[in-house]
Amino acid sequence: MCTRTAASSSPSALAIAVRIIPAWARASFDARVPMRIGCLFMQGRLPHVASLGNQMTTPHLTVLGLETSCDETAAAVVRVSGDARVEVLSSVVLSQIAEHAPYGGVVPEIAARAHVESIDVIARKALADAGVAMTELDGIAATAGPGLVGGVMVGLSFGKAIALALGLPLIAVNHLEGHAVSARLTADIPYPFLLLLVSGGHCQLLDVAGVGACRRLGSTIDDAAGEAFDKIGGALGLEYPAGPALERLGEGGDASRFPLPRALLGRDGCDFSFSGLKTAAARLAAGLVSDIDRRDLAAAVQGAISRQLCERTARAMKLYAHAQEGRSPRLVVAGGVAANQRIRADLRTLSAAEGFSFDAPPLAYCTDNAAMIALAGAERLALGLVDELSVAARPRWPLDEAAARLHPTHVPGRKGAKA
Ligand code: KG4
Ligand code: ZN
Repeated sequence: MCTRTAASSSPSALAIAVRIIPAWARASFDARVPMRIGCLFMQGRLPHVASLGNQMTTPHLTVLGLETSCDETAAAVVRVSGDARVEVLSSVVLSQIAEHAPYGGVVPEIAARAHVESIDVIARKALADAGVAMTELDGIAATAGPGLVGGVMVGLSFGKAIALALGLPLIAVNHLEGHAVSARLTADIPYPFLLLLVSGGHCQLLDVAGVGACRRLGSTIDDAAGEAFDKIGGALGLEYPAGPALERLGEGGDASRFPLPRALLGRDGCDFSFSGLKTAAARLAAGLVSDIDRRDLAAAVQGAISRQLCERTARAMKLYAHAQEGRSPRLVVAGGVAANQRIRADLRTLSAAEGFSFDAPPLAYCTDNAAMIALAGAERLALGLVDELSVAARPRWPLDEAAARLHPTHVPGRKGAKA
């Protein structure tokens, strides 16, 4: 049972100001890096989540998740029981796509302003839909990066204010860790697993042993798979984000009609590269005249992206299965591009051939949402992995910081993968 004492009514504006203003003043002088404080800091403040590994001693944890790292303002309430059962009590996503569509991509200033305008309404709706009062929450999880920093700051600051006012722990969640746990929202998928994370800003292969325990096996050296879908789709006249529209356009097309470059074919390692494909396909798109041409090129692009994802994942599977010492290996695909049916089907076929079981989140949890942030937050909270209110928003934040330092795939100042 939850033994945390919480105010039975909402705190007054004065009480909130008295707690928030000194903390803001303090935070402005703190180092601009996140401070993971683990169990020690919270000892005594979280008696109900004393945990041993994944064994929670409390019947459940209820967490409000907030996601504002790109062009979706999202809030969700997730409850995790002591027996690791996950319930998504609500998940609200407000897309800004219409506001960015005229510009062919996300405009950071428009995104940040739109998050400011709606985050409180969306969070209230998530609580109302869940039938959960703020006083029933055990923690606030907010995306702290990577992403567009203006937007990340909106959700993170909003989360800090609620955490401070209610005396709740704050969990600063890495957006990529949210995607990593997203398949666990609706299915019993135990750790460890091999993760293919494919979204608009990221394309990585990770060995996921749990929250806070991801090892990068490969990453894109230039563009993300979603970025390739979006840019090529744009050249074909499709609206941003073009991934879903390109999938529809390519239905029934002849994927073999347009030969496209096969980057890194046969190359060692598990990295990806999509920039050559992007340039070649965009050039071809510019010369097309008929709808049949456009349909066939869309099918070819989708096939080429799927082929590279499968080839590089097959390499990671060999490395990964070798280290599993008899455990039956599992592949999980997550992120917006995981919504693509052809890619899901090809990865399923690959998994069967390589002796892996295969999982993917339902479509609603492939693209950005706050339920995945709430779940990552709840799993961290159960382990005592909470953050100080001084935690900063990070535009770049690799999941495996050691690998990113040793083998940086992103060169600062160059456009490329965010992690
Ligand atoms: O995970 P997500 O919502 O945001 C990021 O964290 O980036 O992924 C968005 C990306 C976009 O590039 C979008 O075009 C792509 O996922 N996407 C798809 C599909 N649905 C979304 N790409 C291919 N096929 C789809 N069905
Ligand atoms: Zn995402």
